[in-house]
Amino acid sequence: MGFSVPGVQLWQWRSHAKNSAIAHGLPPNEVDWLLQELAGVSRLFLRLQPESELELKVSLQELDRLWQRRVQEFVPVQYLAGVTPWREFELHVAPGVLIPRPETELLIDLALAQDLTLKSGHWVDLGTGSGAIAIGLAFALPNATIHAVDRSAEALAIASLNAKTLNAPVQFYQGNWFDAIPHLKGQLSGVVSNPPYIPTESVAELQPEVRLHEPHLALDGGADGLESIRELVNRAPDYLISGGVWMVEMMMGQGNAIAQLLSAQGSYDRIEIHKDLAGIERFVTAYRL
Ligand SMILES: C[S@@+](CC[C@H](N)C(=O)[O-])C[C@H]1O[C@@H](n2cnc3c(N)ncnc32)[C@H](O)[C@@H]1O
Repeated sequence: MGFSVPGVQLWQWRSHAKNSAIAHGLPPNEVDWLLQELAGVSRLFLRLQPESELELKVSLQELDRLWQRRVQEFVPVQYLAGVTPWREFELHVAPGVLIPRPETELLIDLALAQDLTLKSGHWVDLGTGSGAIAIGLAFALPNATIHAVDRSAEALAIASLNAKTLNAPVQFYQGNWFDAIPHLKGQLSGVVSNPPYIPTESVAELQPEVRLHEPHLALDGGADGLESIRELVNRAPDYLISGGVWMVEMMMGQGNAIAQLLSAQGSYDRIEIHKDLAGIERFVTAYRL
């Protein structure tokens, strides 16, 4: 059922909401994004601003209630809309799952850059969250078999929904990193992860949208931020085939420490640090000897 709203009223609300965004230091275009994603207002309508009645998917009161949550409680706009764009698709998101970030999209390009032989084996996305990486891999590597692990049941429920909605062939497992996939020992061509990597003390300093609303299981990387990454470095050699690729997203400044961990582990070569589009060192890749 739709909600009929006079155009004049909607445009007044929009202008008021944009002013409140500016007053609170938020990007005013978030209002338009919410109008498109939640209320179903088309881009053309937003540009033309007709005064005739408009049919909305939610009432103006509901829209306003949600916008107040954005401004007063710092709820990320993606949680309010329940979706976020990522690579070429739209993913469902909810407070139990990290909102996938644009920089993480580059992990899929790193996977695409691998040799053809690797691109047809078994790959795993460890800490899949919304399923973004696993689904991205399923489309980028159509000849590979994609597995995805998360410890959080809430995350897995959303990831499975996303895979089903997008028709992406991904096998999901709940558990602690590699513990969830003992049957894949010695079989993986690729291990991909965007693990929690923020040092515990820094979590409290994150912007309120992240600190108050995103799951800390997805953020907190332990005292030095490298707790999960250390486990991924140490355990992946038992799971990767010889020549298999290990690739992980990290926080700015962690590259040398991770390269040292990989080197000290003794089972990897061709260790390389990669930058994101902002020029920040963001990923490390290495290959199983
Ligand atoms: C930074 S989020 C990444 C989510 C998603 N891959 C993305 O890039 O948007 C890290 C994910 O790892 C999961 N996680 C944390 N500890 C884990 C563990 N011990 N075993 C498996 N998954 C874990 C969290 O639940 C969260 O979904």
